[in-house]
Amino acid sequence: MTSLRDQTIVVIGGTSGIGFAVAQASLYQHAAHVVVASSTSEKVTRTLARLTETTKQHNLGGRVTGKTLDIGNADEVKKFFAEIGEIDHVVITSGDNLKNGFKGVDLETLKDTFDIRFWAAALVAQQAHIKSGGSVTLTGGVASIKPPPGWPVAAGLAGAVESLVRGLAVELAPIRVNLVAPGAVLTERWDSLPTDRRDKLLRDSAEKLLVKRIGIPEEVADAYIFFMKCGFVTGEILHINGGQTLV
Ligand SMILES: NC(=O)c1ccc[n+]([C@@H]2O[C@H](COP(=O)([O-])OP(=O)(O)OC[C@H]3O[C@@H](n4cnc5c(N)ncnc54)[C@H](OP(=O)(O)O)[C@@H]3O)[C@@H](O)[C@H]2O)c1
Repeated sequence: MTSLRDQTIVVIGGTSGIGFAVAQASLYQHAAHVVVASSTSEKVTRTLARLTETTKQHNLGGRVTGKTLDIGNADEVKKFFAEIGEIDHVVITSGDNLKNGFKGVDLETLKDTFDIRFWAAALVAQQAHIKSGGSVTLTGGVASIKPPPGWPVAAGLAGAVESLVRGLAVELAPIRVNLVAPGAVLTERWDSLPTDRRDKLLRDSAEKLLVKRIGIPEEVADAYIFFMKCGFVTGEILHINGGQTLV
């Protein structure tokens, strides 16, 4: 069996939701060093404490460090990777709040939709010093195939990121580049909604899915772990959405 033993993994967006689950799963897979990064220093500090506790509790032995990084700031991204040196894998789950709406919306206001998930992800792929056999894993979403009403630009972004991954896989080979495309997953992302609205939205979304429930971050994290571990997969998209694309 392959594992992440002796490997260094950077998770940008690792202080919350899916990224946190990827960082934690990497430690369970015996990664030697996991670096979590996101734009809020308090979240980085809190996450370091949580992950350090996990390694102690389960006697895992991996080292955890954290850095504050705004992936949308090109200078910060270049400095981050220059300082960190060679790594085995980078996972990007960072995402700002997606703007939706289309009819009657000034399209100029939607143009920055691509900043964090497309342009910043491309810059990370360009700047990271990844060892031979290593990988880059990006994050997309089910909207590329099943856009909800009011999301044409976000759907375009999700499709663009999928194409970016295939282009990067060719460009960066033999470094592998893949993408995980989640459907509805219960993370802190939903916390900005009022509780009643959030609960109804989650209940309604779950009811529509083939599996009749929302995903949890840990089961999505398994997909990122697979992409890191399997040295024969590149340029691929793994949709994890409880069957949402079939209903
Ligand atoms: N959860 C879902 O239902 C779902 C469904 C489909 C797709 N996705 C996609 O999956 C990804 C992860 O989602 P999630 O639910 O895990 O989100 P989340 O819990 O909101 O976590 C997002 C992470 O991104 C970081 N982040 C945001 N802006 C950043 C920036 N400029 N630079 C660096 N880090 C930044 C956040 O930390 P800071 O605030 O500290 O920066 C946080 O750690 C997102 O791209 C999301 O669109 C999620």
